[in-house]
Amino acid sequence: MSPSLAHDIAAPSPWVLRFASLLPPGAEVLDLASGRGRHARYLAAAGCRVVAADRNAEAIASLTGVAGVAGCVLDLESGAPWPWAAGSFDAVVVTNYLHRPAFARLCDLLRPGGVLIYETFMQGNAAFGKPSNPDFLLAPGELLVRTADGFTVIAFEQGEVARPAPAMIQRICARKGETAGRLPEPSA
Ligand SMILES: C[S@@+](CC[C@H](N)C(=O)[O-])C[C@H]1O[C@@H](n2cnc3c(N)ncnc32)[C@H](O)[C@@H]1O
Repeated sequence: MSPSLAHDIAAPSPWVLRFASLLPPGAEVLDLASGRGRHARYLAAAGCRVVAADRNAEAIASLTGVAGVAGCVLDLESGAPWPWAAGSFDAVVVTNYLHRPAFARLCDLLRPGGVLIYETFMQGNAAFGKPSNPDFLLAPGELLVRTADGFTVIAFEQGEVARPAPAMIQRICARKGETAGRLPEPSA
């Protein structure tokens, strides 16, 4: 297994875990640039119906037979249309992936009331390692700017974290539409 795939089988992000309880059983979820689907697996086990999409065929093949997960090998950056209509999902989860030209398109995939859960690296991460390419690093507050039109922010954070490895990250949970809705219950 390549080092990048080894990284992908890490535990789900605490940020995703925190907001997963907003998704009722049967919710249709897209795990975009899923890798081996650490979040797809978790959400499917919680009763969601998950599409895991990634260009890495080996990573998607690892999801074969996982109940509740449909794998989709897809280059999200090819410019070709994506195979989902606007408003197809109750939630879109994106972690450790950024392709700015596709941001509006992934937001369009959400139904009204649908939830965007996004977490990735931000400026300053080069001090800790990769990614260091500015194309893959959010600007300060960028996820707030990108969801300012059409979303209600439930939670937003940005800054340095120590785990799972030292990094500068930014994360948001935002609901499509004007209503914030229910907050997740604190975990026991
Ligand atoms: C750092 S991994 C993150 C995987 C997963 N979201 C996670 O956090 O465990 C980045 C993923 O983006 C995928 N990726 C990069 N460019 C892509 C593209 N153009 N189309 C589809 N997937 C892509 C890679 O194959 C890889 O699985």
